[in-house]
Amino acid sequence: AEALRIGIAGLGTVGASVARVLAQKSAELARQCGREIVVSAVSARDATRDRGVDLSAAQWFSDPLDLAKNADIDVFVELIGGEEGPARESVMAALQAGRHVVTANKALLARHGVELAQAAEDKGILLNYEAAVAGGIPVIKTMREAMAGNTVNRIFGILNGTCNYILTRMEAEGLSFEDCLKDAQRLGYAEADPTFDIEGNDTAHKLSILTSLAFGTRIAADDIYLEGISNITQADIRAAGELGYRIKLLGVAVRTENGIEQRVHPTMVPTSSVIAQVHGVTNAVAIETDILGELLLSGPGAGGNATASAVIGDIADIAKSQPGFQHGPVFGRPVKELHPYQKAR
Ligand code: HSE
Repeated sequence: AEALRIGIAGLGTVGASVARVLAQKSAELARQCGREIVVSAVSARDATRDRGVDLSAAQWFSDPLDLAKNADIDVFVELIGGEEGPARESVMAALQAGRHVVTANKALLARHGVELAQAAEDKGILLNYEAAVAGGIPVIKTMREAMAGNTVNRIFGILNGTCNYILTRMEAEGLSFEDCLKDAQRLGYAEADPTFDIEGNDTAHKLSILTSLAFGTRIAADDIYLEGISNITQADIRAAGELGYRIKLLGVAVRTENGIEQRVHPTMVPTSSVIAQVHGVTNAVAIETDILGELLLSGPGAGGNATASAVIGDIADIAKSQPGFQHGPVFGRPVKELHPYQKAR
């Protein structure tokens, strides 16, 4: 089968991780997808920086819009970030040019998701965004595929790794808010502008996407009640602890008699609850439905590799969605090549 050619726009924390993992795992991915995945084109502001991966075989673009329109690619992978400007223009151009799009850009989807999804539908191509919500947790695929037929009554969770990392370390180590935020930035968890993390906007962007999927509403981040964690002090955390609670920044969407209510705010959760045990950069999403009951997903919510895992899952989906590849080889490889088991001793 022909290789799937991808173009990566943006080689920051996530883009560089995606390029590195694609290089390291090329044989494994070819086995799983039945075809190779090749990085044919990239765009980044700085072409000279060492990103720990050889991209010399790729065509380099300085302008992502140029890449989206003119590169020889099947899939445009947008990892630039930002809700307007180059991210929005290049994603729209790629869709209009009939190229599949994979994006991790929650701000873009929260603002323009409906319009972009419409453009993809008009062209009969895919717009995949697993990495946009809760980092490496496969919550979009779970909701879209595994939970078909369920009616969701409530969905809530810890959707921002930076905030949960800050709150966890403030409580466990007594550190200041500012020091924890600096570490989150150094570790590649925070947004380019970290006010989006700490003021709750990033959680609201992700919640609005989940709400739309869960309840079939339009994405509406502006309808969310919003309160971040920048005013939380050590005294608040200690007072909550003395009462048997922990403070978590939650996003909540719930079906009410008057419609769907969405909110983001610091919440006192009982220390013994499962959500209170979600520490550090970990995210968690709880989904309550009529058929399945309660589902809780948790896992790494931010950072290069965790987010890259979700981006690459989306790319692999496209690689496998070509006619004749939907089912792949038996169990992911020809039967004669299956690994033998080692007998347990
Ligand atoms: N800044 C985001 C977070 C990155 O901390 O969760 C993942 O979307």
